[in-house]
Amino acid sequence: MEKRSIGPGTLLGPLPVVLVGSYGEVERHGTTSVIQNPMTAAWTGIVNSTPPMVSVSIRPERLSHRFIMETGEFTLNIASSSQAADVDFCGVKSGRDLDKAKACHLTPLKLSTLSVTAGYKECPVILACRVHEVKKLGSHDMFIGKIVDVLADDALFAKDQLDLTKADLLTYYHGDYYGQSRRIGFFGYSVAKTNVLKRRLPKEFWPEAR
Ligand SMILES: Cc1cc2nc3c(=O)[nH]c(=O)nc-3n(C[C@H](O)[C@H](O)[C@H](O)COP(=O)(O)O)c2cc1C
Repeated sequence: MEKRSIGPGTLLGPLPVVLVGSYGEVERHGTTSVIQNPMTAAWTGIVNSTPPMVSVSIRPERLSHRFIMETGEFTLNIASSSQAADVDFCGVKSGRDLDKAKACHLTPLKLSTLSVTAGYKECPVILACRVHEVKKLGSHDMFIGKIVDVLADDALFAKDQLDLTKADLLTYYHGDYYGQSRRIGFFGYSVAKTNVLKRRLPKEFWPEAR
């Protein structure tokens, strides 16, 4: 296939788009309040398996950046496609101007593994993270966090097996949001034995149907 060069850019996807939870003190119109602040981020990903680590890149001018620097912790709240409008809102408004959690009816959930930073009850999966390292990259600072706990909604489990397709997780690609509830394979399925494939995948994805 002929390729067209479009120059250097950030064209990788689909990406998870998450609500980064952070906590701190903010002054609005002369009044100081302590808030839980959700901020949308798409520049995030797993960067290590053992210990489990994740990165999220945040511009220094964001309120969330200051909050995470001050507390040394953050949460990554993975949203469902039904939460797309709230995710978008938390990515175009700053906690400097309003309480985004209240505006989006996001309920802070206290976590036993973090000191002050909450997760959000309405998000199906929450990663609780402690900052391991901050790397200055240019426009963004990359926070590498150790994942100290993962919380997933009870409703996502079938016989103790986590089924994330039930969460219809939200993804982001090149300026647009997508749901992605369709499961089409599993890790290693391209080389799995036929009997394993037949047990774990719908008929339309069995080898003879490919
Ligand atoms: C889809 C989407 C993805 C975003 N991804 C990031 C990101 O990865 N890093 C970042 O610094 N800002 C990102 N933003 C912008 C911030 O979420 C936005 O500036 C927000 O208002 C900052 O909130 P705060 O000032 O309360 O921290 C994104 C916004 C949207 C809508």
